[in-house]
Amino acid sequence: MKDYIKEIEAALERYLPQGDYAEQRLIDAVRYSLALPGKRVRPSLTLAFAELCGGSVEAAIPFACAVEMVHTYSLIHDDLPCMDNDDYRRGQLSNHKVYSEDIALLAGDALQSMAYAAMLGDEAVAAVGGERAARAARILAEKSGLIGMVGGQAIDLSMEHREVGIDLVRLMEEKKTANLIEAACMMGCVVGGGGEEQIKAAGQYAHAIGLAFQIVDDILDVTSTAEELGKPIGSDQENEKNTFMSLLGMERCRALVKLLTAEAVEALSAFEGDTSGLADFAEKLANRRK
Ligand code: IPE
Ligand code: IPE
Ligand code: MG
Ligand code: MG
Ligand code: MG
Repeated sequence: MKDYIKEIEAALERYLPQGDYAEQRLIDAVRYSLALPGKRVRPSLTLAFAELCGGSVEAAIPFACAVEMVHTYSLIHDDLPCMDNDDYRRGQLSNHKVYSEDIALLAGDALQSMAYAAMLGDEAVAAVGGERAARAARILAEKSGLIGMVGGQAIDLSMEHREVGIDLVRLMEEKKTANLIEAACMMGCVVGGGGEEQIKAAGQYAHAIGLAFQIVDDILDVTSTAEELGKPIGSDQENEKNTFMSLLGMERCRALVKLLTAEAVEALSAFEGDTSGLADFAEKLANRRK
């Protein structure tokens, strides 16, 4: 897995409007959250799968940026007082703590439209062709939308302050987190020129690492420190959330993460190229500390 972060961050900055705008405060709010040091897991996956399928980083970068824009919007909204009410994100004050709730809401909205403008812009369409660009955009729309990530967030909120079963928690975590990671990987295959079998395998890999990723997030909310995570710990307990950690406890969560990581690595056998980087990445995410 190459280090794609520098290229992703430079490209994200290029999508921001330059010059004088009356809505400068909104633009600043969008820049603030995009520029904070996220791990860039999702856009890195888009680029890795694009390369694995024979595409170039350059052609895939608008799609990688689009995924990171949608992810960043989801974090801004997730932190709002009406959602998880968290004051810190990526090591700094949450967007609404700096720019106020109204601007934070709009910054999320703006990031979502920026994502589609990036994927369907002249540059992206010229690089990958209209058909692939449209398919990638549709994948992102579906996986991040009503019965995808946003649906998962709604289920998450609906389960606060009450007891539910593990099946519903699993469904919620698959939707709110795995679905966007699935989009990231599948879109990489689509724009890189992968076939149907590869797109499907990318989705399977992503589904497994995506669920594992959220389980680790649930673990870290209990075991980490705010300094290391860059966001508050104990937020889930404070909001009386149902998580894998609250239902299953540490040991069973760890075992499940291990199982899902093995499942992800298995799915990579559908590719002919060198997948060792993506296999290592799955392991690295399983053992991450932030
Ligand atoms: C946080 O995602 C939200 C979840 C879905 C768990 P990340 O842990 O990828 O956050 P950043 O992008 O590195 O800040
Ligand atoms: C967030 O889940 C999922 C999305 C933002 C879609 P969490 O609420 O657990 O994420 P953190 O812990 O605040 O990053
Ligand atoms: Mg949340
Ligand atoms: Mg949260
Ligand atoms: Mg969390």
